[in-house]
Amino acid sequence: MTLANTITAIIDEYYPPASPAREVLLRHSEMVARKALQTARKVSHLHPDLEFIEQAAMLHDIGIFYARAPEIGCFGEYPYVCHGYLGRILVEGKGLSRHALVCERHVGVGLTLEEIRKQDLPLPLRDMVPVSLEERIVCYADKFFSKKPGKDQEEWPVEMVLKSLEKYGLQKVARFTEWLALFGETGW
Ligand SMILES: [Fe+2]
Repeated sequence: MTLANTITAIIDEYYPPASPAREVLLRHSEMVARKALQTARKVSHLHPDLEFIEQAAMLHDIGIFYARAPEIGCFGEYPYVCHGYLGRILVEGKGLSRHALVCERHVGVGLTLEEIRKQDLPLPLRDMVPVSLEERIVCYADKFFSKKPGKDQEEWPVEMVLKSLEKYGLQKVARFTEWLALFGETGW
């Protein structure tokens, strides 16, 4: 089985055709994958791994079914913030440890150990911040898209992304602003 087929098989296993979150997951992941590839092409001098980026973008939210988010068809038991590290465990179990890190590190603009401790988040105590270029690109691209019904069709303008991060603190806005500069979005 090729890696691309393995990824499709993982999605089909946890989001079979009739499952309520399948459409949400696929639509969102495809939009994130497209934006991530566009972003990667802007930094081709840094030699991002395009194939990996597309695959990881398709898997980054694989853990959402563990979460309680009925508005997007997810009826699990965990708080939504847990979908990243739970996705990591799932994807690691399939032998894709590099993809798994993208799952764990894409929530918000990443969560530091200090933030997890201070906010008493229900997460394992470790840094969950995107490190590699590919991890940063998928995390960045993800911030332009919502999964909420009615808001899930279009890319958000940059000012809306910045606004959405403000409530989590200026550090978050600062990290995203760094990425805007790195990934060549001008005028910010
Ligand atoms: Fe996510």
